[in-house]
Amino acid sequence: MRSIHALTALLLTACRTGEPDQACPTPDMTDGSPRPLWHFTPPDGWMNDPAGLVWLDDTFHLFYQRDPHDVFVADTRWGHATSHDLLGWGDQPEALVADPVLGVPFTGSAVVDDSGQLCAPGKDCLVLIFTHALGEDGAQKQSVAWSEDSGQTFTPYPGNPVLPPIDAADFRDPNVRWHAALSRWVMTVGVRDAVRFYTSQDLRTWTQTGAFTPTGVTPGAYECPDLFSLPAPDGAARWVLKLDVNPGLLQAGPSRYWVGDFDGASFVPQTAADGLWADGPDLYATQTFANVPDGRTIWLGWMSAWSYANATPTHGYRGQQSAPRELSLVDTADGLRLAQRPARELEHAVDPCPLIERARVEVDDLTPLLDDAGPAYLLTATVAPGPQGVAGFELVRGANERTAVGFDAARGVIFLDRSASGAVDFSSAFAGRFEQPVPGAGASVWLTVLVDRTSVEVFADDGVAVISASIYPTETVHGLAAFAERGPATLQDLRVQPMGRALRGSSP
Ligand code: FRU
Repeated sequence: MRSIHALTALLLTACRTGEPDQACPTPDMTDGSPRPLWHFTPPDGWMNDPAGLVWLDDTFHLFYQRDPHDVFVADTRWGHATSHDLLGWGDQPEALVADPVLGVPFTGSAVVDDSGQLCAPGKDCLVLIFTHALGEDGAQKQSVAWSEDSGQTFTPYPGNPVLPPIDAADFRDPNVRWHAALSRWVMTVGVRDAVRFYTSQDLRTWTQTGAFTPTGVTPGAYECPDLFSLPAPDGAARWVLKLDVNPGLLQAGPSRYWVGDFDGASFVPQTAADGLWADGPDLYATQTFANVPDGRTIWLGWMSAWSYANATPTHGYRGQQSAPRELSLVDTADGLRLAQRPARELEHAVDPCPLIERARVEVDDLTPLLDDAGPAYLLTATVAPGPQGVAGFELVRGANERTAVGFDAARGVIFLDRSASGAVDFSSAFAGRFEQPVPGAGASVWLTVLVDRTSVEVFADDGVAVISASIYPTETVHGLAAFAERGPATLQDLRVQPMGRALRGSSP
């Protein structure tokens, strides 16, 4: 067994000698909080879906499903937080609360409307479109509210609901986007095991134009659809339709997507009829930010799953959002794929002093790398097992706990195993090993791994395969090791950089 302890020690010395360095902040962990350092968590109580994501006036707005009273969803409201950089979030007043007749505000979306039809002309008009559920008639319906003061206060539309109940119990999560070619708003909404499309010119009057019923997807409630266009490598615009299946297909992940064409009425997939996996077990209800000025398409999602969301072992709060990711379409040997890369803003959270800097490591069996890598870091490396081999990392490694991530070259998959990641027995659905195929996988893979105390997000190559998982370690030492099975492996350009230390407590 070989190790690079000496190399690591050298690098640490280079960073840590002398007077405290402003560029290498010492983290203040004295509050003992188990929260992630930079992923968004609610101030208290329960959080699930991002319910509306939008950019307005240099500010990213994150609206989310929240129940401040409990750590399980009951008295559902819309929480609200804002950020200038997708990293430091400031809590804002709640945006939506229950209506005594219509019910509680379930998930929806947020857009900016400059038509002057809802808000006074000349005002920035932040519009929320959402489901009212569990009201007097028990039926789900779609409603609208708007803000003229950048989301500080909202006025519900007096004519709500804008879409009355239909003959299906599941009719929720309206996703509204401006369709430039049609010059209309398009709403995509989940209806049991299909999605329906509606269009509108004023966000109040909606006409159904079509529906999409995927084939071969496990039946369930198809929730939180998102429909957006991205440029394909050939320059043509393609549409991506994503939805989440509840109850989830947990061993692979609950989130499916298709790439195809959309004309405002029908969506025609060009990728497999039964969809592709967007991610692993804990990326749910992803939504893209509307109105982002630089043309980027950025999404994030709720890092949990309904099978165990109400039992996760955190204290005083429950729920975390994923890292924001930039989306693109890439050509692979297996066809067009959605690629997710950590949003470039995250670079600002990366500590300039690496724990390991561009190392080449020969891995034989289990090779310790760091005794304690800290609670949050970015790890990148080319992982090259032998052609029949498996190699990767043991993250958040204590005496008895570890989360394994890696690449199986023979099978062309990345994997994440959280069976021994810490607290796992709060739900029989939690522990497990999750895999995602890497399209066109070769002998090696470029891995980007984000660890932030209670989450691990693994991106393969340019983000064509992703596995996101929550973890709940109980040990305080967070070691890092590399492992190889079925023969030795090589890690190239291995880099480990702490993340988020300077951000802690720095929300605007
Ligand atoms: C998805 C979901 C949505 C619903 C919301 C309620 O996680 O089930 O379908 O609107 O949560 O909080």
